Amino acid sequence: MAETKKNATLTLDGKSYDLPVFSPTLGPDVLDIRKLYGQADVFTFDPGFTSTASCESAITYIDGDKGELLHRGYSIEELAEHSHYLEVCYLLLYGELPTAAQLTDFEQRVTRHTMVHEQMHNFFRGFRRDAHPMATMVGVVGAMSAFYHDSTDINDPWQREVAAIRMIAKLPTIAAMAYKYSIGQPFVYPKNSLDYAGNFLHMCFAIPAEDYVVNPILAKAMDRIMMLHADHEQNASTSTVRLAGSSGANPFACIAAGIACLWGPAHGGANQACLEMLKEIGTVDRIPEFVAKAKDKDSGFRLMGFGHRVYKNFDPRATVMKESADEVLGLLGVENNPLLQVAKELERIALSDEYFISKKLYPNVDFYSGIILEAMGFPTSMFTPIFAISRTVGWISQWKEMIGDKGQKIGRPRQLYIGEPHRAYVDVRNR
Ligand code: CMC
Repeated sequence: MAETKKNATLTLDGKSYDLPVFSPTLGPDVLDIRKLYGQADVFTFDPGFTSTASCESAITYIDGDKGELLHRGYSIEELAEHSHYLEVCYLLLYGELPTAAQLTDFEQRVTRHTMVHEQMHNFFRGFRRDAHPMATMVGVVGAMSAFYHDSTDINDPWQREVAAIRMIAKLPTIAAMAYKYSIGQPFVYPKNSLDYAGNFLHMCFAIPAEDYVVNPILAKAMDRIMMLHADHEQNASTSTVRLAGSSGANPFACIAAGIACLWGPAHGGANQACLEMLKEIGTVDRIPEFVAKAKDKDSGFRLMGFGHRVYKNFDPRATVMKESADEVLGLLGVENNPLLQVAKELERIALSDEYFISKKLYPNVDFYSGIILEAMGFPTSMFTPIFAISRTVGWISQWKEMIGDKGQKIGRPRQLYIGEPHRAYVDVRNR
């Protein structure tokens, strides 16, 4: 538990209450209000949790003003440059960078779990072909608790570990199967000679009739996209996973809940929405029209891929993603991609506009990821599933941390009730 070194005082109706103040290793102090209701008979009000720390965590730290993102203390820029996705998975899950032997062992354990239960193929076939792959994933990942019930006892550390490895290993297979099913192609089994990202590309783009050779540049770009999305502290989907897990629900059910939450356009669904918006804008000359619409509250339109609850300076993931977009499109020889031109110009115009400057709205991670994914050949409907694959390790690490927290309680917020006070029932004949 973090240390308390000082107190804050709350005065209410002439009475004073001492609130312990926690000092984190990084970030603002945190007022401990856990006893407040018992002592002062008041709740606190914070819809959207803009000022509420919901848990203690040692996994990821974000400084929104500095545009800083650290996993277990390591900056995302350094990880993106020197590390790779499975190493970052290990770091998030176990707290330290692995030794060479630990990394090999972890990679082997993940690789050995990439296949799904053969019966799952039949389960997939129950879905409509035109289902969104995210809809299929919510269902299939939820159903993993029916296929792998030998790893659903959350009180058994070994089962927790197996469930974690199973999900990290099988999510790419499940996402690729959802894609293949939606386009009417046969499922492609995982190929364990390939690395994590390359294997995913293979399962998405190989067909039995032809050889498919994974382009190492694209595999590296995919690995980087995965790394940049691996964890992001207590965001909406992670908080959903923690809340679902706080009741003792099994890990597969919790991750399915996280996938459902991620799908929304304000969260992981923004990558699909952003690329669709860039396509709708189409040409640079139409940008002012869309910027004006985004500034008009009555339009209900927002610039997708812009803004973030925490980052108020820049999103460090977006900076790396933009470099990757240039690199990948350059290597594919499509650097004159019209969407990239629109994106760059939109970024330039929005960042010099008073509305966006005053509200501290900057491109987020989803602004450039879709351009790379489309250049790789993915349809927009696969963008959010790729986010879900990548974030699975973050969800599991946070869930695991929560289960290991002795002070963990079921999540149960209170409310500011604004409904009718008590009233007497009126018989239907007298209404
Ligand atoms: N375009 C135009 N105006 C915006 C935008 C935007 N993209 N984002 C925020 N604003 C305005 C908003 O209207 C509000 O104005 P006012 O103060 O006058 O009412 C102000 O900026 C603050 O917005 P908010 O909705 O109170 O901020 P929030 O922290 O609740 O929302 C957000 C953060 C990411 C949901 C929001 O910025 C947004 O909807 N962005 C577009 C969707 C998007 O790109 N989401 C991906 C986020 S990053 C990846 C992930 O987390 O999954």
